[in-house]
Amino acid sequence: MVVPGQQDPEEKIFLPPEDLRANAHVPDFNSYLTLYKQSIEEPEEFWRNVAEEFYWQEPPSGQMLQYNFDVTKDGVYIKFMEGAKTNMCYNVLDRNVLDLKLGEKVAYHWEGNSPGHRLTITYSQLLKQVCRCANALKQLGVKKGDRVAIYLPMIPELVYSMLACARIGAVHSIVFAGFSSESLAERIMDAQCNVLVTADGVYRGEKLINLKQISNEALEYCREKGSLTVQKCLVVKHYAFRINGNDTCNKLQTPWNADCDVWWDEVVESASDECIPEWLDAEDPLFILYTSGSTGKPKGVLHTVAGYLLYTSLTFKYVFDHHHDDVYWCTADIGWITGHSYITYGPLANGATSVLFEGIPVYPHVGRFWEIIEKYRVSKFYTAPTAIRLLMKYGREPLQKFDLSSLRVLGTVGEPINPEAWLWYHDAVGHGRCPVVDTFWQTETGGHVLTPLPAATALKPGSATLPFFGVLPCILNEHGEELEGEAEGYLVFRKPWPGIMRGVYGNQERFENTYFKKFPGFYVTGDGCRRDKDGYYWITGRIDDMLNVSGHLLSTAEVEAALSEHSAVAEAAVVSRPHTVKGECLYCFVTLKDCRELNHTLMEELKRKVREKIGPIATPDFIQNAPALPKTRSGKIMRRVLRQIARNEKDLGDLSTLADPKVVEVLLSQRCEAAA
Ligand code: WTA
Repeated sequence: MVVPGQQDPEEKIFLPPEDLRANAHVPDFNSYLTLYKQSIEEPEEFWRNVAEEFYWQEPPSGQMLQYNFDVTKDGVYIKFMEGAKTNMCYNVLDRNVLDLKLGEKVAYHWEGNSPGHRLTITYSQLLKQVCRCANALKQLGVKKGDRVAIYLPMIPELVYSMLACARIGAVHSIVFAGFSSESLAERIMDAQCNVLVTADGVYRGEKLINLKQISNEALEYCREKGSLTVQKCLVVKHYAFRINGNDTCNKLQTPWNADCDVWWDEVVESASDECIPEWLDAEDPLFILYTSGSTGKPKGVLHTVAGYLLYTSLTFKYVFDHHHDDVYWCTADIGWITGHSYITYGPLANGATSVLFEGIPVYPHVGRFWEIIEKYRVSKFYTAPTAIRLLMKYGREPLQKFDLSSLRVLGTVGEPINPEAWLWYHDAVGHGRCPVVDTFWQTETGGHVLTPLPAATALKPGSATLPFFGVLPCILNEHGEELEGEAEGYLVFRKPWPGIMRGVYGNQERFENTYFKKFPGFYVTGDGCRRDKDGYYWITGRIDDMLNVSGHLLSTAEVEAALSEHSAVAEAAVVSRPHTVKGECLYCFVTLKDCRELNHTLMEELKRKVREKIGPIATPDFIQNAPALPKTRSGKIMRRVLRQIARNEKDLGDLSTLADPKVVEVLLSQRCEAAA
């Protein structure tokens, strides 16, 4: 690694601001290098020091990290601090309240979808609410090791219930509240959850979503499949339907099943606010979070207690250079990994004050983000490139109405950020004073793996820069050969770090096949990557059959399966096409049965089908009628060609393996120019 800019003084490089360096945890590049070197050369000692900050009912002894990444040997596994006993919830709440005397400190400023709806929650209040919920879950029959599905909007009860699970040793499986009933059902069945926590409904912007109705449909679906494991459904009454009185309540007409459903108010509010935590092994499961899989069926990514605690805590502290007077805001939803790691666990482990935001960036006005930053004096702000690109469209005027001088560090996550959006974020939002930390990571990595540190790393717009402590990235070519120096290829990791996933829930074979089989000895991310002359990493995007729409991963196979369920569809193929706000969007080719016409009605039906099967995030942008799909002589769909057609690229590359070249001509002549 060399100091960036030395070799090419023309390159656009942003140096860390002096004022940040004065009291930063990692104040300069040399300190980063020293710590990084230690984390790689003496990992046992490095992580033992980190572990000392936390409470252990039984302290770690023996080896910190044990693993096998080589799929050709017996079974891939990762174990961190096995044998030590602790509790996640105790470490992120009781430890702050009892040992660090942070009970009166604000844990969350909750800001609802409608301005004016808000709540301040201190660490001791949070602890009490979590204990009540933990006791209520126990009353409902939840025991250590049981799985609890949580399908809630961004309300405090989401944090209470996930931490309540962590407290009693239950495994939470949070399902983003934008997913459809079938997606929810599939996840409930895969993890065999005993309890579902949901809400009556929620407003996203002005749109009313009847979550209880969707939950009922999901449970009905499980019953139809002969796999109804959920015995109790705990239902939160959403604040919006209390405040607005009976009118909205009637509109919701919360469907109720007296055998199974219980109101949160009735069992949680009356429960005791004390609950002794369950002491768990470091390697006991903490949660399952589903992520799209290239076969179409989502994978239950499994994380365990101690490694995830240490890793989310340390990355949060260093990547956002967290200090006790900070107000931190991550705009993600807890239904995704970013929310798990950097709204709940990482910030709480550091005793941070966070904003917990339920709404959307453009409701009730396009300056909502900037208004909230001003209101709470947010100093560290973390959002997604898609949100930045969306807000960029409205220009600088909405920003100028608000005081953003409290900001110190800006972060981005979820997809590659284009330099134009990076520069706008840096200039218009950060007024050129705030480093932009472009954090690359995955549901599977648990926390940031490639990222700048705000006071130590010189920045290049569009690059996730350098590895975090304990992380050893490599770039391989198609043959699995490691490339040195400037190179482009597959991004893989040579060694585990504490926060890496431990498995695919209930499916060791899929775990090994997905992440370790292609290049034995390495964890394969599925992303392409380039390393420049300074050793900086640039993520070039997915190189498997995954799409990244607004920072959400989708598999082409799952969208194709949804389209193919429509009775008019004979075959479907889905590819990505660049989109100015979403990053990528879905371009679908459908071959219709009986030469049917792709009219407006059918187009709408197809879109609805995808929304029902997966959720609104997967709604196709383009649907093109394909009388036939381009295939190889062995019958494989040539997605590369379809991608080029969707992108309107003139050069379609090598077409010699194509069975019938006429197919391509027809598709080219009927390309969709405008979105469906
Ligand atoms: C992509 C989200 C470029 C990448 C935390 C990865 C990124 C996938 C970045 C994981 C980034 C995430 N730059 N690409 N900073 N962050 N990605 O599991 O393709 O929802 O593999 O985790 O998002 O998405 P996931």
